[in-house]
Amino acid sequence: AGRKKRARALEANRQAARFYYDYLNSPGGQRVRDYIAQRQITHRFAVRFGLGAAPDSWDELTRALTAQGFSKMELIDAGLAVAGKNGGVYDKFRSRLMLPVIDVRGEVVGFTSRILPGEEGAKYLNTPETIVFHKGRLIYALNLAKNTKRPNLVLVEGNIDVITLHQAGFDNVVATMGTALTEEHARILARYTKELVLCYDNDAAGKQSTQRVLNILKNAQLNVRVLQLPNAYDSEGKPLKQDPDDFIKRFGPAAFEKCLNDSAGQNDYRLGDLMSRHDLSQEEGRLAYLKEAVGIVAALQSPIEREIYGNKAAAAAGISGQAFAQEVERFRKNRT
Ligand code: CTP
Ligand code: MN
Ligand code: MN
Ligand code: MN
Ligand code: MN
Repeated sequence: AGRKKRARALEANRQAARFYYDYLNSPGGQRVRDYIAQRQITHRFAVRFGLGAAPDSWDELTRALTAQGFSKMELIDAGLAVAGKNGGVYDKFRSRLMLPVIDVRGEVVGFTSRILPGEEGAKYLNTPETIVFHKGRLIYALNLAKNTKRPNLVLVEGNIDVITLHQAGFDNVVATMGTALTEEHARILARYTKELVLCYDNDAAGKQSTQRVLNILKNAQLNVRVLQLPNAYDSEGKPLKQDPDDFIKRFGPAAFEKCLNDSAGQNDYRLGDLMSRHDLSQEEGRLAYLKEAVGIVAALQSPIEREIYGNKAAAAAGISGQAFAQEVERFRKNRT
């Protein structure tokens, strides 16, 4: 019974992706086509990612799919329709850019969607958890990125970041579905690559997510690096939000390639981030920095790594590697 339900949900999502794709190329798709052009996504990449448009209608998809033999309950179970209070059934996605979410085997399991400029509502809206859509396991674009010839996979926050980076020649880019990376995601990624490069937005939220993800990846069988996008400023010197999509548009693919090559190992990233949060020209700042740095270095399993990163951490605060190493060993004894 479960298998049959799964097959129906997959079929409904596949037919919906087709419907949205056809609608994009019909007269009603004009606004979404304009928006895709505004995001500088080419026709070729819109097709590669199966982009579509949801009509500005309460039930156009529901009517089309029930005419194909799906029951309203099947559409609700597939995450494509929602039940209204008065017993009616409505399309879940209305007047939006539609991005099908395709699993690693190539099946459409659901959608993410973006609001159009000038409309009110949630910027991004996803399929809810269904029998085939599991956010905690889904990795967007892994079906494409698994074939890359590049030596690693790059994890970004946003689906549009994925598309514009693929278009710029980085066919190794993937994203999770608007959720933080889970251990399950990490296990899946480790099957496809030896090295993962984190490239989250360079805002406070992105930095927080990076720290959280580094902790989750501690036990993963993956070499982890962090690509921190440089800060960008407007003409008045105010810091601008910058994500990979913004960066590629401002500076081009070669600049991104350079950032990728220069991306830091996770220990250097952690220590660098810690330094940026303390004033190392003041004794107070140095002490606070050292206290946290000892914790970071003490958590490293390899004595060689503890020596290398211990020396770096100590040098940044102007103390001897020996004194730092003593603190690290004391910290480790007290913990076990
Ligand atoms: N996201 C979400 N719900 C939101 C905002 C974001 O699910 N309300 C998820 C989406 O998967 C999105 C990703 O988080 O792709 C990145 O979000 P964000 O960085 O805020 O997107 P923007 O870069 O601001 O989006 P855009 O470039 O489309 O304006
Ligand atoms: Mn945002
Ligand atoms: Mn963001
Ligand atoms: Mn963006
Ligand atoms: Mn972003």
